[in-house]
Amino acid sequence: MAGAFSANSLYNELHAESISAANRTVDHLSALDVAKDEDYWSVIQQAYTTSPNLINLNNGGVSPAPRVVQEALERYNKLANEGPSYFMWEILDQGREPLREKLAELAGCDKEEVVFNRNATESLNTIIFGLELKAGDEVIGCKLDYPNHMNAWKQRALRDGIHYNQLSFNFPIENDDEIVAAYEKAITPKTKVIHVTHVINWVGQIMPVRKIADMAHRHGLEVVCDGAHSFALLDFKIPDLHCDYFATSLHKFLSAPIGSGMMWIKKEKITKIWPLLGNGDPRSSNIRKFETLGTRSFPIEQGIGEAVNFQLGIGNKRKEERVRYLKNYWAERVTAHQKVKLWTSLKPEYSCAICGVSIEGLSPKEIERALFLRYKIHTVAIEYENVKCVRVTPHVYTRLPELDKFARAITEIATAGK
Ligand SMILES: Cc1ncc(COP(=O)(O)O)c(C=O)c1O
Repeated sequence: MAGAFSANSLYNELHAESISAANRTVDHLSALDVAKDEDYWSVIQQAYTTSPNLINLNNGGVSPAPRVVQEALERYNKLANEGPSYFMWEILDQGREPLREKLAELAGCDKEEVVFNRNATESLNTIIFGLELKAGDEVIGCKLDYPNHMNAWKQRALRDGIHYNQLSFNFPIENDDEIVAAYEKAITPKTKVIHVTHVINWVGQIMPVRKIADMAHRHGLEVVCDGAHSFALLDFKIPDLHCDYFATSLHKFLSAPIGSGMMWIKKEKITKIWPLLGNGDPRSSNIRKFETLGTRSFPIEQGIGEAVNFQLGIGNKRKEERVRYLKNYWAERVTAHQKVKLWTSLKPEYSCAICGVSIEGLSPKEIERALFLRYKIHTVAIEYENVKCVRVTPHVYTRLPELDKFARAITEIATAGK
């Protein structure tokens, strides 16, 4: 049984040769140029096993895993069932520290700051409930943060008497200063924390996390960043965001097994965060105090390693540029129609994969249904707060003919109306 980072890894067995060969053909090109190289991306597309009967443009919800990750899961699951307590706790668990190291390398941080768990929700709940806050302390977030975490803050408000102040934004906004100023204006002497979503899931706006964090630190506040839609998509290192806490799912853009996530806590903050699940030494500075999860899926955990291999095979920057290219590809083909509206900026600094689209005279649900029933295109209808659109999210395996079909479908639905 080879580990994900050994010479005999499944990635090396299944994909390394074809991806390395494809990389050699584009090594002289910039990431922007590689984004348009269909021969290169056809190699990546072939690594996925997605259904030809459906065009899946809701990768923002959850993404499929490439073949190597699926096979790793199956292989580890079979092994675990050969004798669970021995193979899970004595064999698969040996992969935990190498995985921490490799994920840290991908995140550009110290391995002693990284925990892997089940998803972004678990990570953010750990941070939100782990922070020591008292009645009257204030937290600033926004109404378009993710509901699970808004609910976690609301629960703290009910239980501990903290004040949770949620800002409203009308996205898209193509001005970082306007966003930073909105958070700064909401700060009071009682504010302790700013919660910011790196990429707003409803419409794909990229938030200026680093600028918000620098401003917050000048006021002595801490910053929690929800990176569910940015990690393994945008090319950044977590410490470069200057936040104090960062959380992400790994089953979105990393294409890791479904039910995997990661939490990052700045080293000097680890001691003061209470673990969500009790630990014998809750005030420890050891990040492993957050991993007292009990019996969990070792196959899922170890499958993450092969997703990291696959990601490193492509490279973060190439992936970011390709997915942004795919988003722009369809978006630019539908904007000419006078009934079609985009909810997302197409400027590279403000969006990447996600883009919202609506059609005058039709509800998001009607558009989403028409796309599915007439064209077998899967998207998601969003009617939330001030957002009314269909959210569209391609991934590295998305093919241009699929986006041609999607753009044609939007134009035809807009022309036909009700
Ligand atoms: C911005 C954002 N944060 C967090 C989450 C939660 O992710 P998970 O379901 O993996 O916990 C999502 C899910 O879509 C999200 O969009």
